[in-house]
Amino acid sequence: MLILGIETSCDDTAAAVLKDGVTLLSSVLSSQDQIHTRFGGVVPELASRRHLEAIVPIVSEALERAAVTLSDIDLIAVTQGPGLIGSLLVGFSYAKALSFATRIPFIGVDHMAGHLLAVFLEEEKPQFPYIALIVSGGTSSIYLARSYTSFSLLGRTRDDAAGEAFDKVAKILGMPYPGGPQVSALSACGDRKAIKLPRAWLEEGSLDFSFSGLKTAVLTHYKQCQQREIPLQLADICASFQEAIVTVLVEKTIQAAKRHSIETIVIGGGVSANPRLRESMLNRCQQEGKKLFAPRPSFCTDNGAMIALAGFYAAQESAGGEGGYDQDVYSRTRL
Ligand code: KG4
Repeated sequence: MLILGIETSCDDTAAAVLKDGVTLLSSVLSSQDQIHTRFGGVVPELASRRHLEAIVPIVSEALERAAVTLSDIDLIAVTQGPGLIGSLLVGFSYAKALSFATRIPFIGVDHMAGHLLAVFLEEEKPQFPYIALIVSGGTSSIYLARSYTSFSLLGRTRDDAAGEAFDKVAKILGMPYPGGPQVSALSACGDRKAIKLPRAWLEEGSLDFSFSGLKTAVLTHYKQCQQREIPLQLADICASFQEAIVTVLVEKTIQAAKRHSIETIVIGGGVSANPRLRESMLNRCQQEGKKLFAPRPSFCTDNGAMIALAGFYAAQESAGGEGGYDQDVYSRTRL
């Protein structure tokens, strides 16, 4: 079974061809980072306009690299939500039109299901059930995954998502968008204990996250340094900030696994490409006797392969998997 996966939920136009839910034949992506960097964040209108330009060439390239044509494709899987409505509409409308014209069935996929399953694109695959930490520019959530299509939300962010906090702190420190990779790179030569920053544990036992206080604490430190004319130690600020986020993400994920007596932990989403998060999570998993599974960094960030994969399993569950042309996109996750 050949699936064409299409992803346009935010600022990456991506497409992939997946065979039988296991063999990835191609995965291509057009990033919009250069367009948004001068605004310090994603500008929704510019994002959808760029998707419009990129969608046809990106899908053609995915087919070409997979050495197949549209007539070989059995199913089109496309991100239906969550994300920016204008961006989602481009990919979803394109997939519907393609389906209508070619009679290839299509299925709408929740972007979170893509991140939750991205790890199955790797050789080493986890067993169900597992606890998944999904951290990206728009989400910080902990799920209990029972099967390819059954996920229970255990905790989520109450304000800024982890990636959003990385990007906002990078902006405060004068770094270009997207800030996560830059903060992460600079942290490597900084002291994680240099600046005392808050860790928001929230109420006893809560698996929710809150990172807006941490971001404000960085801003306050930054302003104090400027007022007192103290030279800014950027690497130390980045390392201390990153450690504050990573500590809370890791400990709450471990807590969730212990509470539900789950031995396997999975991470996904753009922030899970962060080397310190991966290292810290691995250390804690080893201490607690848990097994960690993580996709390679290019499958942590948005991609079409995870959408094709999630579409493969969603289609099996919906027996036939054909989406109706009256379906619409949605901005908030349904998982
Ligand atoms: O999953 P993703 O590609 O999609 C969106 O949410 O749009 O995640 C992008 C987010 C951005 O906020 C980016 O700054 C963050 O993931 N990110 C990172 C790293 N790589 C990407 N954050 C911290 N460390 C990284 N190495």
